Amino acid sequence: MPDESIHISWARVPAEPPDRVVGACQTGATSGVVLRRPTCCLDMPACPTAAWEVDALSAERDEDPPSLQWQAHGRTVVARWRSEAGLPPPARMVPADDDMSADHAWRLACEGTALLWQGDFHNGRQLLTAMGRRIERSGQRRAPAGDITQVFHHRRMAQAQRARLLGMLLIPLEPGYHLSLRRAPDVTLACREAWGEDDMQASVVSMRELLGIIGAHQWRLKGVPVPALGGCIHPHYGVFSPVRGEYVELVANAPLPSIALAFDLGTGTGVLAAVLARRGVAQVVATDNNPRALDCARDNLARLGLAGRVTLCRTDLYPPGRAPLVVCNPPWLPGKTTSALDAAVYDPDSRMVRGFIDGLAAHLAPGGEGWLILSDLAERLGLRSRETLLGWFERAGLAVLAREDVRPRHGKAFDRSDPLHAARSAEITSLWRLAARE
Ligand SMILES: C[S@@+](CC[C@H](N)C(=O)[O-])C[C@H]1O[C@@H](n2cnc3c(N)ncnc32)[C@H](O)[C@@H]1O
Repeated sequence: MPDESIHISWARVPAEPPDRVVGACQTGATSGVVLRRPTCCLDMPACPTAAWEVDALSAERDEDPPSLQWQAHGRTVVARWRSEAGLPPPARMVPADDDMSADHAWRLACEGTALLWQGDFHNGRQLLTAMGRRIERSGQRRAPAGDITQVFHHRRMAQAQRARLLGMLLIPLEPGYHLSLRRAPDVTLACREAWGEDDMQASVVSMRELLGIIGAHQWRLKGVPVPALGGCIHPHYGVFSPVRGEYVELVANAPLPSIALAFDLGTGTGVLAAVLARRGVAQVVATDNNPRALDCARDNLARLGLAGRVTLCRTDLYPPGRAPLVVCNPPWLPGKTTSALDAAVYDPDSRMVRGFIDGLAAHLAPGGEGWLILSDLAERLGLRSRETLLGWFERAGLAVLAREDVRPRHGKAFDRSDPLHAARSAEITSLWRLAARE
């Protein structure tokens, strides 16, 4: 295989890339590694004289995003590397098109070689699906053994491995978030929503990530119905979506201690702040530390006509002051996060849960309540015990006033083929009503 591969050097993008030639192809003298099946610059896969070679690009500024750089026909191709999980660009990459078999692609990915897709967009998507099937088949041969905690950890590892392998199929985007592949959809708006305004630079992203961005765009357009709001919430890319509506119902039905003011910590799409405002709470201060979440909440509150009742605040957990009601729906599972997308589901070292609990007494107005929304899935998976949670309440000087429970109705709870079915089917989501002890 060595003569088919392009070794890509990657580094930080310099302020002014030397030559942005993605989208331009020049025939002429070539040097470096000649590909056995000639493939050329990103927009001209049929160019007969293509050759790409390694070119080291020195790190210019540490804060600049990583880029891929290679030589084609004596000119430098620079493309910004995009990875939501912050993965480094691949060390090796080969061009791939409709002629490449799924087995070949799969082998290359397993060896750590990325594939820069030049073929038909839909064929690329099918190749990804075919690679996914191969991962599943190899995973089935190594079925995890052990207790449910081990099964959970094994699954997380397998998911990370799957993401790494499927992340090897890469898609080139031209400046303006333009895809020049055959039968490619217009992804301009979806990319703009996920990444912000285009910096007029070419980029490279994994097909899997791009499909996620397209899916998120469709969800954002369509919205998620929230009966308690009599309307929809429109989740943005990278923001926790209230697709599991049970926890929203808990907040919609629990007795309000006051309708003067509430804090909503980690507001995400703004769904709980909106529910509280709809229930008559005069002012809600909603916080999040993720700027995407705050943009999303702003958008949703404006659509629902509630913008004047909710103040959004980018901060870690609590805003200044005290409130008679503090609501928090933290990520439910303790665990490491590998991307911003993980951060809505996994809470490293239970940092957010503990931050909410530890800070509650100091932020509650007299007679106030803190509402912690938490599923017991972590307990059922052996990741945190009930005693630990109750011990945190105790040490923070909190008393449990009441607990409202609900059983999930989402599809995963009924999927018997899921190795975590036993835990998921028995899961209970609770709204803990907490107060500061006298
Ligand atoms: C599980 S999501 C809940 C979102 C929303 N409240 C809901 O119920 O749909 C948790 C949210 O907390 C935010 N978050 C995580 N750590 C935080 C922190 N230290 N301070 C503020 N927000 C945080 C995340 O960005 C995410 O939007």
